[in-house]
Amino acid sequence: MKITIVGSGYVGLVTGTCFAEVGIEVTCVDIDKKKIENLNQGIIPIFEPGLEEMVHRNIKKGRLKFTTSLAEALEDCEVLFTAVGTPPGKDGSADLQYVINVARECGKNMKDYLLIVTKSTVPVGTAEKVKMALQEELNKRGVDIPFDVASNPEFLKEGAAIDDFLKPDRIVVGLDSQRAEELMKSLYKPFTLNGHPIIFMDITSAEMTKYAANAMLATKISFMNDIANLCEIVGADINMVRKGIGSDSRIGNKFIYPGIGYGGSCFPKDVKALIRTAEDFNYKLRVLRAVEEVNLDQKSVLFNKVLNYYNGDLKDKVIALWGLSFKPQTDDMREAPSIVIVQKLLEAGAKVTAYDPVAMKEATHYLGETITYADDQYDALIDADCLLLVTEWPEFKFPNLKIIKKLLNKPVVFDGRNIYETAEMKRQGFDYFCIGIDTTK
Ligand SMILES: NC(=O)c1ccc[n+]([C@@H]2O[C@H](COP(=O)([O-])OP(=O)(O)OC[C@H]3O[C@@H](n4cnc5c(N)ncnc54)[C@H](O)[C@@H]3O)[C@@H](O)[C@H]2O)c1
Repeated sequence: MKITIVGSGYVGLVTGTCFAEVGIEVTCVDIDKKKIENLNQGIIPIFEPGLEEMVHRNIKKGRLKFTTSLAEALEDCEVLFTAVGTPPGKDGSADLQYVINVARECGKNMKDYLLIVTKSTVPVGTAEKVKMALQEELNKRGVDIPFDVASNPEFLKEGAAIDDFLKPDRIVVGLDSQRAEELMKSLYKPFTLNGHPIIFMDITSAEMTKYAANAMLATKISFMNDIANLCEIVGADINMVRKGIGSDSRIGNKFIYPGIGYGGSCFPKDVKALIRTAEDFNYKLRVLRAVEEVNLDQKSVLFNKVLNYYNGDLKDKVIALWGLSFKPQTDDMREAPSIVIVQKLLEAGAKVTAYDPVAMKEATHYLGETITYADDQYDALIDADCLLLVTEWPEFKFPNLKIIKKLLNKPVVFDGRNIYETAEMKRQGFDYFCIGIDTTK
């Protein structure tokens, strides 16, 4: 089978490469000429573990191609996935212009039956808009070509995207035609053979499932951060509380780690978009509004601790930051808490030196030259007054505490991810602060 993936970003590139990996002929399309030129030379635009070698292997086998021409990709193509961005518009709703543009381009160029599958995260009702846009273009051409639409939201996690795609917890497909169901079943067969379930449902439910999943995960994070802040006030230890509740199988121990707020390209925008969808239907999603509010405040928690430690005066303090990406194993800086922390530190008159294993180049698009980028995690500490652990990259988990102590002007660590042990840090002579534990006692 020959398929097309439109949009060659985090989702499109991983999707296309994984389909190629199981033997399907894939053409990836993007409007970004430079990106396609690079991909054709085997240069990968993002950091995603394992992706580069898989792309190279499938290009070599002739199963994976890249082009800027959707018309060319549509030749003999039966199934087209849309994996373009759906960024938040001014009012928080998902901006659907890229998804609709793809539908229009399909209507302008398709010659035979096409199943157009939306993989981008889109609000309820989008499939109808896609149908209408595509049909309008067919009408303009005066042709009658059959097509189906389907919704196939993507649940991959950046940093583990390939594994998530190859061995999915579940595949959700919303559709309303037998032909579409058969196509989707056969396309996903290689991924479901080992028992990974494919769940078919109506299109509206599939569109809603993606938002409900991200909203639930964001809720877990904000809930734990809220409880962590309370723990700190009442003298409880959030790490203990987490273990205590996580061992309850109804709660589970995943996604209940306190921290400095969720970021990334999905949770912030999807929570906003779902709140907006509810408003469009005159319904108030009260829980999610609180989730957003807690998250916004949580991004300042580490900064507030620093400000408090220095009695409100950060002028000319030099602050070392470990980690810039919104989470480990990705270079994605979209909505990263580090951006808020850096901005606040700079506004307060501090100087920032940061180190991240892969996201420093990407970070320049967000922070420019307002901070110093260090070559190494320990270089970032030279002449710094304190260290802020912002992203829990594996290499930050067991650092040499003696070197940290030697390089910092004074041994002070603010840990935004609770990866260090309070007792050990104190034993080593550090002033140590983390989330959800009053370490001053
Ligand atoms: N990033 C994630 O972890 C993740 C996970 C699940 C779902 N999603 C959803 O998947 C979608 C894509 O996200 P992403 O992170 O891959 O975005 P991205 O910004 O990395 O990639 C989108 C790509 O689409 C291209 N594009 C835009 N309009 C186009 C057009 N008309 N024709 C061809 N290409 C076009 C852009 O140039 C860009 O390369 C979003 O809706 C997102 O919410 C993302």
